[in-house]
Amino acid sequence: MTLAIVNCSQVVTLAGPARPRVGAEMSAIGILANGALFIRDGGIVQVGTNDQIEKLIDGDCEVVDAGGRIVLPGFVDAHTHPVFAGTRVDEFEERIKGATYQEIAARGGGIQSTVNRTRAASLDELVAIGKRYAQWFLRAGTTTIEAKSGYGLSLEDEIKLLRAIKRLDEETALHYVPTFLGAHSIPPEYRARRSDYVSLLIDAMLPQIAQQKLAEFCDVFCEENVFTTDESWRILSAARCHGLGLRIHADQLSLGAGTQLAAELGATTADHLEHTDAAGIAALKSAGVQPVLLPGSVYALGSSRYPAAREMIDAGLAVVLATDFNPGSSPTPSMLTILSLAATHLKLTPAEAITAATINAAYSLNRGAQLGSLEPGKIADLVIHDTDDYRELAYFFGVDHVWSVYAAGVRIS
Ligand code: NIG
Ligand code: FE
Repeated sequence: MTLAIVNCSQVVTLAGPARPRVGAEMSAIGILANGALFIRDGGIVQVGTNDQIEKLIDGDCEVVDAGGRIVLPGFVDAHTHPVFAGTRVDEFEERIKGATYQEIAARGGGIQSTVNRTRAASLDELVAIGKRYAQWFLRAGTTTIEAKSGYGLSLEDEIKLLRAIKRLDEETALHYVPTFLGAHSIPPEYRARRSDYVSLLIDAMLPQIAQQKLAEFCDVFCEENVFTTDESWRILSAARCHGLGLRIHADQLSLGAGTQLAAELGATTADHLEHTDAAGIAALKSAGVQPVLLPGSVYALGSSRYPAAREMIDAGLAVVLATDFNPGSSPTPSMLTILSLAATHLKLTPAEAITAATINAAYSLNRGAQLGSLEPGKIADLVIHDTDDYRELAYFFGVDHVWSVYAAGVRIS
């Protein structure tokens, strides 16, 4: 089973040091002009010039002529909430008319309204709904997503969501990296006794989820009126004892101590960071925490408070970009849209944004050795985009640049 992809105006390899890229490295995306790739059994064997690769082609090899288009690694979307029932299109209309995300949440809408519908859905129903979104991700050029639970908020419903994620990973061409987000909201039945919910998370949910190996990471929504710093500390510390990696929703709607907590606990990522200040950036730097920036949620909430991405890059943080795909704050699966927002609002160059959406994202999911760049030995997850200049991906927005998508060397879109 060999495959050659030839005649690419640019192979955007992201080749470089075997670690997340920082500072000026984020601009060095390893472009090979007039390049080609040779793939065997789903893995990349060689990346080189057309002439070099053509010498490897024999009669059994499938040859794809990219027609002067560009090839990139499949996008790695390191922050999504992709398993939920129903939509929140009614709340979308209310927000257009002036209601805020927090007001809607305070009266029992928001995350809770998705929880109600998701609890009522069966595992099979959630898998069927999730498959539709999996196709959206794949068609948009994303081949791996981090996938959070968090719309169950009971032992059995959180396990149902994580099982749905496992089935979606097995039954679709999209790769899912599962994260337990039981600490997404305090469910109404625990509002008057919130410490009991924290105990349920720590004493019942985490042990079972870890034992059944249903998650690789644990996340907490650390925010005013959601989980306090102290509660977040207890939950994430317990998760760490179970061997889970840590992620945290921090400083999304207000400045808190989430970044300090992420640093103290050695979290893999701190996500959102719209309100993070210089002290927070310094804390993330000192502990090597990767920031995951989600400009789609800022845009879709109609806010203009984007995170201080330039300061983060200048401080030497290995910035990641993701969609935050979810029914409330960020209903988009499109990493191309995120590249455009990153350029216009975060002031990342197209090259920096591509680094943040591929190799840095892969490292933030412990997949840096397998994914995120086009180098020998890596999995052949790649996308041919219909342009001859990678910068157009961030420049022409609202355009479906994706020409074809390969997962482990097999064309899937
Ligand atoms: O990342 N902030 C918390 N969680 C999601 C929103 C989830 C929802 O509104 O359903 C986010 O923005
Ligand atoms: Fe999120």
